[in-house]
Amino acid sequence: MYLTPEEERILAGEYGEGMRKAMEILVAIGKIYDAERLIPISSAQISGVSYHNIGDAGLEFLWDFSRGARVRVKATLNPGGVDLGKWREMKIDREFMEKQGEVIKIFMSMGVEPTLTCTPYLVGNLPKKGEHIAWSESSAVAYANSVLGAYTNRESGISALAAAIIGKTPMYGLHLKENRRPEVRVVLKTELNYRSDYSVLGYAIASKAGHSIPYIEGMGKADLEALKLFAASIATYAGAAIFHIKGVTAEWMDFEPPGETIEITSRDLEEGYEYLRDEFREVDMVWIGCPHTSLKELEEIAGLLKDKEVAAELWITTSRQVKRMAEELGYIETIEKSGAKVIIDTCVAVAPLLGKFKTLVTNSAKAFYYSRGVNRFRVKVANLEKCIDAAVRGEWV
Ligand code: F3S
Repeated sequence: MYLTPEEERILAGEYGEGMRKAMEILVAIGKIYDAERLIPISSAQISGVSYHNIGDAGLEFLWDFSRGARVRVKATLNPGGVDLGKWREMKIDREFMEKQGEVIKIFMSMGVEPTLTCTPYLVGNLPKKGEHIAWSESSAVAYANSVLGAYTNRESGISALAAAIIGKTPMYGLHLKENRRPEVRVVLKTELNYRSDYSVLGYAIASKAGHSIPYIEGMGKADLEALKLFAASIATYAGAAIFHIKGVTAEWMDFEPPGETIEITSRDLEEGYEYLRDEFREVDMVWIGCPHTSLKELEEIAGLLKDKEVAAELWITTSRQVKRMAEELGYIETIEKSGAKVIIDTCVAVAPLLGKFKTLVTNSAKAFYYSRGVNRFRVKVANLEKCIDAAVRGEWV
């Protein structure tokens, strides 16, 4: 891989140990993927933040890495394992909360913004079409490539951090236009009436088209909230880091529709919902906010919860910035009056919740996957209204 004279000097350690290590990581990745060179990035989004996932070994690694290293571009953080202000309400112990606080401090010492969200594009990390970035959370990556038309591979937490420190990333994979080409045409023969339908659609497309990059026709309109649910789902079930939707996403006009075609019918969606619904009646928890909720969603949730009381735990996960805006508009007060919790900086999938709840209802197919796989909950996916109804009743009817 070609390195500029300055990059060579960084690799030789002339700019300090932190930068040397970061460059070493980028060069190693570049060599594996046959990258020609490094390209400048405008932002990074860094995962591997939850102490639950990285443990003491990760914490030590970060300490080591952080000495003398600072990010050169805008860099934001993925959710961690706990809301530092609500650890007791989340049934999480003090030691975990303190360790999580340390992780965040280390990132901040390197100049990373403590956004702690998987929807960085809602809180100021909003790349433009054609910009190269290094993001790591899978739903954010799919959203950035597809909806925004930015260029990123699905980075690991470490490679995103290294890219942020150097301000560059190896040029391979989805940084090259030819690798963003759609591979299968998906024709929708069904209407999508709820945002949860978009989430189930991600599962349905993955079931039929596997890992191919889809070019979707017939979706009509989709708002940001529907697209982020779809991005999260297709990234989870198809491993897709990019998709194209005719008339909707940033690059759909740049490509011809592929020849191979599949259709998605209302029956496929129904089968999706059937698969995404385990058997249970009593509801322990309802989770909205995978990916993290927008201001618009919080407004809708506040409207649905007005003058109601929840019987089950209702957790709404979002970023601290979006919560602050919602506070000013009075949505948080209405939501919390019902007994629901608005939780920031984390989500159910990356918090240590194993054994603490048994059943969960959510509007996100990605949340289904992780709540089942990581937390061993039994889970049902439903639209927002039905989720709120389940929280108020404490049961699924
Ligand atoms: Fe975000 Fe957690 Fe879902 S990181 S996409 S809320 S699993």
